[in-house]
This record gives sequence, structure tokens and C-alpha cells, in this order.
Amino acid sequence: MKRTEIQVAVLKGGFSRERAVSLRTGAAAAAALRSSGCRVEEVDVRHRRWRLPAGTDVVFVALHGAYGEDGELQDTLEKRGLPFTGSDAAACRRAFDKAASKARFREAGLATPEGIVLRGREKAPKAEELPFSLPAVVKPAREGSSLGVRIVRAASELPTAVQIARRSDEIVLVERYIPGREFTVGVLGEKALPVIEICPKNGWYDYRNKYTVGNTEYRVPAPLRWNLRKKIQNFGLRAHQVLGCRDISRADFRLDETGEIYLLEVNTIPGMTKTSLLPKAAAAAGIAFPKLCRTLVECALNRGKILS
Ligand SMILES: Nc1ncnc2c1ncn2[C@@H]1O[C@H](COP(=O)(O)OP(=O)(O)OP(=O)(O)O)[C@@H](O)[C@H]1O
Ligand SMILES: [Mg+2]
Repeated sequence: MKRTEIQVAVLKGGFSRERAVSLRTGAAAAAALRSSGCRVEEVDVRHRRWRLPAGTDVVFVALHGAYGEDGELQDTLEKRGLPFTGSDAAACRRAFDKAASKARFREAGLATPEGIVLRGREKAPKAEELPFSLPAVVKPAREGSSLGVRIVRAASELPTAVQIARRSDEIVLVERYIPGREFTVGVLGEKALPVIEICPKNGWYDYRNKYTVGNTEYRVPAPLRWNLRKKIQNFGLRAHQVLGCRDISRADFRLDETGEIYLLEVNTIPGMTKTSLLPKAAAAAGIAFPKLCRTLVECALNRGKILS
């Protein structure tokens, strides 16, 4: 009997610190793809020796963090010639490393907070050695979900913050803290989605405020003047292009009191539960969650056809 449905393998879980988030992304994407008529197998990735079910047409990558989002998995998929969703290995590698991506943003004239990069065993700087005054944000170069990120307001907190960031990565960024409002913009295909404003009810957008329902208010479309909204959307699209991303990405921004916009980072595999940021923005643009997941699968399949 001839098979007509697309068979998708959703790779989820992984073994990074973002495993729990990825399991949710994977389960949500799998359910959405089933409802859009695909045949779906969920593969819980626990190590590098995962296996694909026979008959897989396309791989939906629902992993976050190291291995799944840093280009290593994409490298393997490319070598095996398997069509997969989202950006290629090179773009994932560039986006996942904030030291590398920020260097690219600067070269392209995209404003990103100034800062310094500590490598290897380099000591934490003294506050007076920084090219800006406190507060600072200390973060691992290659991590996500705000893990290992600390806002440092007093000079005495710098060494501990660097130590905490080093648990995630040997490369650590010490960035100028940008006061003001926070926004995120998703890109789907070659189009920017509506801008979302992120308003944590208490404190900043740390892991707890990201993943505890009710801790953060999301405003979509963001209550901004039309020209500022457009500016952030164009900025997100430029960031996507500068890193060479494909099909989907999400860029995070800060907006200070003077109206200056700063790009924090680009995620190549943004959270994809129904209530995650990019799906929220897609819904506001009239793209329901099953359609969003199905579109990513179709983009991957079409690429596969061109290559083979
Ligand atoms: N320079 C900065 N100024 C002000 N706040 C910042 C700055 N850098 C990071 N933050 C805060 O820390 C949060 C996490 O930072 P960032 O987006 O760089 O890291 P991440 O862990 O990769 O996030 P994601 O979950 O989006 O992958 C931001 O959403 C923001 O609230
Ligand atoms: Mg972020």
C-alpha cells in the first residue's frame, strides 16, 4: 500500500540542561503535527547514539541547548543527508555562541550591549576594569533559558557570578546591563512576526519567570509606536540573515529609556510549546500552532527534494 502521510521523527529531550523544556517542546510539536495529518514518532534523545524509526521522511528538531541547538546534531543530520527543520549546522553554531554571534552583529552594524569575553581560566575582572559601569550581566556564551545568567549590581558579586556562568561554559560574557523594557521577535520564513513585550511581574526574566505560568505577562502585539515596532521587526530579520538562519529564529532585545534598541541574542530553536513566545507571535499573525509546525516540516521536505 502506498503511504501518503509524511512521516516525521520528532527529536526531543537531549542531554543539555534544557532537557525538561525540550521534552515539552517535543511533545507539543508532535501533537500538533499529528493533528495536521502527519505520522509522528517521538524520539527521546538521551545520548549521541539515537536511532531513527524506519521510514522517516523528515526530522523535526525539538532539542534546545548543547548538542541539539549548537550545530552538532545538525552536522550529523547533514552528513546522513536527512532533511531536518530549522537552521543548518553552521548557523546554529554561530547563533548558539553569544561571543561569536555578538561579534557578527557588531560587524554588521547591529547594536548589541558592549562587554568583555573571558576565556579559559581568565580571572573575573574588577569592576573598575570593565569598559562600562555596573550593573553588569554575566552569562555563559553557550547556554539558554537564562541558566547561569546573573545580574551583578555590586563589585563584590562579580567573581561568584563568573564562577556560576563557568559551570555552563568556559567562555563567559560580562555585558553592560541595559535598563528598560524587553522584547522578542520571531522570524518565520523570511518574515518577522509581531513583536512581543516581556514583562516579568517580579525581578527579571530568569528561568523561574520564563517557565512558571503567571509569573510573566506577555503583550502581543507589543504596545509600541508603529515605527518602533517596525524597527524591532527589521532588526530581528537582519539578525536572522546576518547569522545565516533558515526558516525560523527568535531574537531577544532590550529597549532603554533613550529609545536605543540592543540585540541580546538569536535562538535558532526557540521554545515551541503552544504557550511559548514564537507560537504566541505566530498565533497573533493568524498562524495556528499545527500550521506553524507543519510549515517547518514542509520547508525541510522541500529542501530535501531539491538536494536529492
Ligand atoms: N545586557 C543585558 N541587559 C539587561 N538584561 C539582560 C542583558 N542580558 C541578558 N539579560 C536578561 O537575561 C535574560 C537571558 O539572557 P539571554 O537572552 O542573553 O540568555 P539565554 O539564556 O540564552 O536566553 P534564552 O532562554 O532566550 O535562550 C534576558 O531575557 C534578559 O532578561
Ligand atoms: Mg534569550
